[in-house]
Amino acid sequence: MLRDHEIERDDSEQVLVMAASVRTGSINQALDRYIAEELRSDGAAVGVVDLAEFAMPLYDGDLEARDGVPVAARELAEWFGGAEVLVIVSPEYNGAFPPLLKNTIDWATRTDPSVLAHLRVLLASVSPGRGGGARAVVMTRTWMANIGVAVAEMSLSVGSAELTATGAIANLDPTELSAFVVQTRQTEPTVS
Ligand SMILES: Cc1cc2nc3c(=O)[nH]c(=O)nc-3n(C[C@H](O)[C@H](O)[C@H](O)COP(=O)(O)O)c2cc1C
Repeated sequence: MLRDHEIERDDSEQVLVMAASVRTGSINQALDRYIAEELRSDGAAVGVVDLAEFAMPLYDGDLEARDGVPVAARELAEWFGGAEVLVIVSPEYNGAFPPLLKNTIDWATRTDPSVLAHLRVLLASVSPGRGGGARAVVMTRTWMANIGVAVAEMSLSVGSAELTATGAIANLDPTELSAFVVQTRQTEPTVS
């Protein structure tokens, strides 16, 4: 029987794909689905992390001292622990990564500061804006380097994007998508 916050995962899921938006109709969740589908058709064992199922309060040291690390953060850390690759698909907010992503990783590191250190991380973003969220990707890359996490060289940023009525991202280039996704199979090169 699962506890309230327990999320079932399959231990064979070596690539995790995580969208840093829980908004209904999120375009980053749509890209997340494309990436997961492409990975599966490439034969990867994929786990999709839905952050709506890992809701956490805003990090506060007093809260941690009082209640400990939230169950959701400990469970997410376990998902990270069982994976080899993490694909982060994130919106850009005011030229940076969104608070949901920072808060989630901050809590997860309270289980172990090196919780991401074994992972190869790939970064993707999509936005209705022309830049496609690339500035947030640059910041996330720097942030990951600061905490010793290797990031794949090629990122994917889709600009001027719109969701169609069927949930498709009309201007997503399938060749770029496959070139991005293939990096999950490489052990080299990664940069940090
Ligand atoms: C607070 C806030 C700041 C934003 N700043 C940017 C930005 O700097 N660059 C950009 O391309 N889009 C920006 N946007 C627009 C988002 O890209 C757009 O809302 C996008 O749909 C969010 O991703 P989601 O659909 O996955 O939730 C911003 C949106 C919000 C709410």
